[in-house]
Amino acid sequence: IDPTLDLFAEIERLKKEKNAVLLAHYYQEADIQDVADYIGDSLGLAQYAAKTNADIIVFAGVHFMAETAKILNPTKKVLLPDLNAGCSLADSAPADLFKCFKEQHPGHLVVSYVNCSAEIKALSDIICTSSNAERIIESIPEDQPIIFAPDKNLGGYLNKKTGRNMVLWNGACMVHEIFSLEKIIKLKTRHPNAKVLAHPECEEAILRVADYVGSTTQILQYAVQDKTTQEFIVATETGIIHQMQKDAPEKTFIPAPPNNSCACNDCPHMKLNTLEKLYLCMEYETPELVMDEALRKAALKPIERMMEISR
Ligand code: 13P
Ligand code: SF4
Repeated sequence: IDPTLDLFAEIERLKKEKNAVLLAHYYQEADIQDVADYIGDSLGLAQYAAKTNADIIVFAGVHFMAETAKILNPTKKVLLPDLNAGCSLADSAPADLFKCFKEQHPGHLVVSYVNCSAEIKALSDIICTSSNAERIIESIPEDQPIIFAPDKNLGGYLNKKTGRNMVLWNGACMVHEIFSLEKIIKLKTRHPNAKVLAHPECEEAILRVADYVGSTTQILQYAVQDKTTQEFIVATETGIIHQMQKDAPEKTFIPAPPNNSCACNDCPHMKLNTLEKLYLCMEYETPELVMDEALRKAALKPIERMMEISR
């Protein structure tokens, strides 16, 4: 790419010329968030994708998010700046193993967290995201046995919140498992008025000390609307702090410390997308997310059930 090119202006030009909409997750780098038409959590992004009139959906997020947009929009072109932007949580549930697991639990309804492949969605009865999971579980009769996949931390949190005893798949997110309880507690002693905000993909011990647990959008809204708190310790991917600082510049947001000083709270998958790759994918309309139609239809059903309940 010509280094003198104004990528922000070029991306804006391509959006107009191609009737393309740019959707970004909060974990994207700040420049990408700033040029996006919509930034949201997984549910917000899926809902936005479902109603857009654009011809092209450019998805600055990870593969399962772009795939969900494609499942909802088969006639639209869906572009992802880097097709290798996967998700450790989605990878923790290979479809063949999950199929065997399901067979070992006959009579169970399968609720899958949206962070999974289309193959897992096709094996599921209903999908949920971090913002509607509790509501989805509560919509299921209490005596109905449930398998929850792939996130054991979110599943455990939901079991506690709803009093259910769902069978959990043993998956987790590499980013949300690195926070150190000890270091968070030490940080709290230095910042006694700070509130801890956590994503439900964090381990149980972290969720126990959190003042608020929610999806990325919910955490952001909580931080902005809380009139009594000036400081927040944020136990999720660091990208969200960009919007927090934009929406509440007078407040302080401290990333929750990881347990290993060499580790960081950045999602290596999300951060594969760059402004340069974004520009190139819009200019050349590649890489494109393509899907087998039978798989798409099978994965659509449980997503539609979720959308119905989340209206
Ligand atoms: P949200 O749906 O809360 O934005 O979470 C997505 C995700 O990948 C969290 O790691
Ligand atoms: Fe997947 Fe974790 Fe990255 Fe979210 S933060 S996209 S769950 S690896």
